[in-house]
Amino acid sequence: MPMQSASQHLSMPTRLSPLISRHVAVVGAGAGGLVAARELRREGHRVVVFERNDQVGGMWVYTSKVESDPLGLDPNRAVVPSSLYDSLRTNLPRECMGFRDFPFVIRDGKGRDPRRFPSHTEVLMYLQDFATEFGIAELVRFETQVVFVGLEEDGKWNVKSKSRGGVGVDEIYDAVVVCNGHYTEPRLADIPGINIWPGKQMHSHNYRIPDPFKDQVVILIGSAASAVDISRDIAGVAKEVHVAARSVGSYTLGKQPGHDNLWLHSMISCVHKDGRVVFEDGSVVHADFILHCTGYKYHFPFLETNGALVVDDNCVGPLYKHVFPPALAPGLSFVGIPWKVVPFPMFELQSKWIAGALSNRIALPSKEEMMKDVKAFYLSLGACGIPKRYTHRMGASQYEYNDWIAAQCECAAYQEWKKQMHFVTSKRKVERPETYRDKWEDNDLVLQAQEDFKKYMVDGSFAQ
Ligand SMILES: Cc1cc2nc3c(=O)[nH]c(=O)nc-3n(C[C@H](O)[C@H](O)[C@H](O)COP(=O)(O)OP(=O)(O)OC[C@H]3O[C@@H](n4cnc5c(N)ncnc54)[C@H](O)[C@@H]3O)c2cc1C
Ligand SMILES: NC(=O)c1ccc[n+]([C@@H]2O[C@H](COP(=O)([O-])OP(=O)(O)OC[C@H]3O[C@@H](n4cnc5c(N)ncnc54)[C@H](OP(=O)(O)O)[C@@H]3O)[C@@H](O)[C@H]2O)c1
Repeated sequence: MPMQSASQHLSMPTRLSPLISRHVAVVGAGAGGLVAARELRREGHRVVVFERNDQVGGMWVYTSKVESDPLGLDPNRAVVPSSLYDSLRTNLPRECMGFRDFPFVIRDGKGRDPRRFPSHTEVLMYLQDFATEFGIAELVRFETQVVFVGLEEDGKWNVKSKSRGGVGVDEIYDAVVVCNGHYTEPRLADIPGINIWPGKQMHSHNYRIPDPFKDQVVILIGSAASAVDISRDIAGVAKEVHVAARSVGSYTLGKQPGHDNLWLHSMISCVHKDGRVVFEDGSVVHADFILHCTGYKYHFPFLETNGALVVDDNCVGPLYKHVFPPALAPGLSFVGIPWKVVPFPMFELQSKWIAGALSNRIALPSKEEMMKDVKAFYLSLGACGIPKRYTHRMGASQYEYNDWIAAQCECAAYQEWKKQMHFVTSKRKVERPETYRDKWEDNDLVLQAQEDFKKYMVDGSFAQ
């Protein structure tokens, strides 16, 4: 994926003066909102974080609850803000995952998971530790949902929120940082004949445990992380598991090694009222269940920008470097839009950039220059044949992106060991999806990481 092109115009940030302390609203207290709040406060801004849940951690707060509509189509359903399943372990090693100056190291304590690819509860505890260490929880208004964000005539931002008791609050802020996550609004595949197909359906957002799939013939749609992991989770109890993939990548179609009841197919072409599911390669399966592991939509139901920002085919735009809408920068910004990335360290860099831009320490280009950059980026995607839905998909280009933002913030570039560890893990994940979390060969990189982490230790231990 090409990088956006303004780097040639903006090799180093320009300092502006004087520095300004702003009143900033942050939407969400997940990993993105927590680190945004820390960086904004470090920069001297006054911060209020709005969180609709009753605790920090965002999607890492596991719940066995699922939504009333298993496909997530009902716009009036009560949204469950997590897409975790019970068995979920991280798909990144902990050394890569953590924030730079608060490494995700092994800690003693009840319920802690010392594994290199730990369970979701360990990630939640890590985020809770982060919030405690930097005093973030005191900035958060829990059980308070942002219902409206809109620009005022004087350039300030109107933020309307509602607490659990239904009490509405209407306030004015200098800036809003949107960190509402993008893994709660299901995206579904169109399947010809689905309205007359008699089986059950669900989106992976509502998948928790494999038990309901016992002895069933299950079709999963998708070929990314959810489909790969959940198909294995279900294969332990189901009669047959068939994965239908639109983009197969380097996976091989047919029976999957290590399993006697797991197959990979091309995409579904149609389904019938007698329960048949027909794949594009002509194969046919009588199935009981279709599980859509088809990812999520960006969704900002509270945001009113009068057309300055739109979501179309999974592209949020226009956004300069995936962070600032040119017409509304720096007052409106987004943390966490890119995907196929190592999220937490990227969120940290984006947050530093936003905090510096809001205080006037870091200059942004003019609106016209930002817009020109976005257009050039879109053209470069088109020229490489990259579909619009992949606009925010980064993969290998994330390192250049991170280093570019780090240069804007005048902070250290991304660690080389971290790039290599991520690269090695990504490769092993595809080659050995069953074992990569428990067997690895990059111990040299683990040692380099541990050496690096010593820089952030106080009196021989990390902050508790
Ligand atoms: C199944 C799954 C597994 C993943 N596994 C990994 C992994 O192993 N490693 C990794 O690094 N990343 C993983 N990720 C990526 C993960 O999304 C990021 O790590 C990160 O946690 C996202 O943080 P966020 O703050 O952007 O969003 P979220 O964690 O979703 O937080 C957003 C917060 O905003 C709140 N919110 C939303 N709207 C409003 C509103 N209107 N008002 C008030 N509050 C609101 C929500 O309640 C939520 O708390 C995974 C993602 C998924 C879906
Ligand atoms: N820790 C873990 O182990 C773990 C587990 C699960 C998920 N995750 C994370 O959760 C996030 C979401 O992952 P995800 O797998 O749920 O979503 P995703 O990465 O967005 O992948 C969605 C998959 O569905 C396919 N798809 C989408 N729309 C389709 C359609 N209309 N028809 C057919 N196929 C369609 C996509 O194919 P195309 O590529 O062709 O669009 C892709 O294969 C990622 O960050 C991932 O890393 C982590």
